[in-house]
Amino acid sequence: MKKQRSTSDPKRMWGGRFSEETDRLVQLFGASTDIDRRMALEDIEGSVAHASMLTAQGILSEQEGKTICAGLEEIRKAVLAGEFHWDPALEDVHMNIEHELTRRIGPVGGKLHTARSRNDQVATDLRLWLRRAGNEIGIELQTVRAVLIDLAEAHLEVIMPGYTHLQVAQPVRFSQHLMAYYAMFSRDSERLSQTLERMNDSPLGACALAGTGFDIDRVATANQLGFRGVALNSMDAVSDRDFVLDFLSFSSIVMVHLSRLSEELILWSSQEFGFITLPDSHTTGSSIMPQKKNPDMCELIRGKTGRVCGSLMALLMTMKGLPLTYNKDMQEDKEGVFDAADTLRMSLRIYSGMLSGIQVHAECMRAAAAVGFSNATDLADYLTRKGLPFREAHEVVGHLVALCLRKGFSLESLPLETMQQVSPLIEADVLECLKLDAVVNARNSLGGTAATEVERQIRLAREQLQREVAE
Ligand code: ARG
Repeated sequence: MKKQRSTSDPKRMWGGRFSEETDRLVQLFGASTDIDRRMALEDIEGSVAHASMLTAQGILSEQEGKTICAGLEEIRKAVLAGEFHWDPALEDVHMNIEHELTRRIGPVGGKLHTARSRNDQVATDLRLWLRRAGNEIGIELQTVRAVLIDLAEAHLEVIMPGYTHLQVAQPVRFSQHLMAYYAMFSRDSERLSQTLERMNDSPLGACALAGTGFDIDRVATANQLGFRGVALNSMDAVSDRDFVLDFLSFSSIVMVHLSRLSEELILWSSQEFGFITLPDSHTTGSSIMPQKKNPDMCELIRGKTGRVCGSLMALLMTMKGLPLTYNKDMQEDKEGVFDAADTLRMSLRIYSGMLSGIQVHAECMRAAAAVGFSNATDLADYLTRKGLPFREAHEVVGHLVALCLRKGFSLESLPLETMQQVSPLIEADVLECLKLDAVVNARNSLGGTAATEVERQIRLAREQLQREVAE
């Protein structure tokens, strides 16, 4: 038998038009308190701005405004002290706080929700939350970038094989390889700034979807909350989750970068490569094989990348069929983006610690760079400089490589006469340009792997980072 309510359930802020109690499962399934309570401080901040504006506009009396703001301040302290009692039966963070406000200050608490809806409230809270999380993540990103610059500078002279298709291609500086990741993470920093800039408009005052007849001042609340402006169209303001998608997209791209670097560190620290040793502090052992030292952090970060990208996909799919404006589906936005922000922040932190502790085995890298005919392009370039069209030079060197493979030579150990039989253009000076250091330093075009160019990248990167940190 369905239970009839005699009086309005005090926990249901929308109880008026209902005559039955909410089914227990429905209440459980619909509640988001356990997740969105993380936005409690932002919710209070938004409410204080709203109440102050209502007071300034004469919609609330001075006394009412004061009482509400003081009540909110008490709640803020309780939340910070971990003393706030969260009740999932109150559905979400917004109703928990409003309910507590009314409990503390009496019915005047009910005036706070004048000219506001949970729809503009939640959109405001989440933007504020992401702004704060984004700023923190921005600092972690800068730290990783600084560590990469230091590492590159400390190992400027180390030469390693550069790969395409994971086949030895041309020798490069280890520092050039590291600065490639610096470039990726710099773009991420830029992407983050753009993401934060775009989400910097206030939805507050859009109310449920259509605005309000109360004489509110949206610009005032936007200013008080540190927004650059207002999200103008009220329907867009409450139905837009592009800013969450932007943030998830930014997070996914950073994670993909970390995942690629993880893959490289895993390979490089394997017995087969032996290019680096990861610090003991950031690796783990095996419970059965005493010799093992596993790159768990790299693997976990590579693994967690799937989850972060999954959250982006999940929200894209959630949003793709939604009619304007607010739909409860959108409550699903928070779990994924909170998890993405946590995962990203932690992964970046782990990375700056791990990278600063790696040991670089320069000799191993150099030896690997010297095999696999990594100087073949240089022999082709040599012939091209002697006037042979590059395409023909490529063919000649291809023959020489095949010859070396048959006879067990490297290009530089092949007797000069043998080379000259294949191309009379080859002279004794060829040996010089086939040497590893010469090969690397020959690539001095802008952004190339020659010492001068890597030094330039390091210098520019330092300047860029200093400018950013000073801002
Ligand atoms: N908990 C809700 C969410 O996160 C808040 C907005 C609810 N709005 C509503 N009309 N039911 O989406």
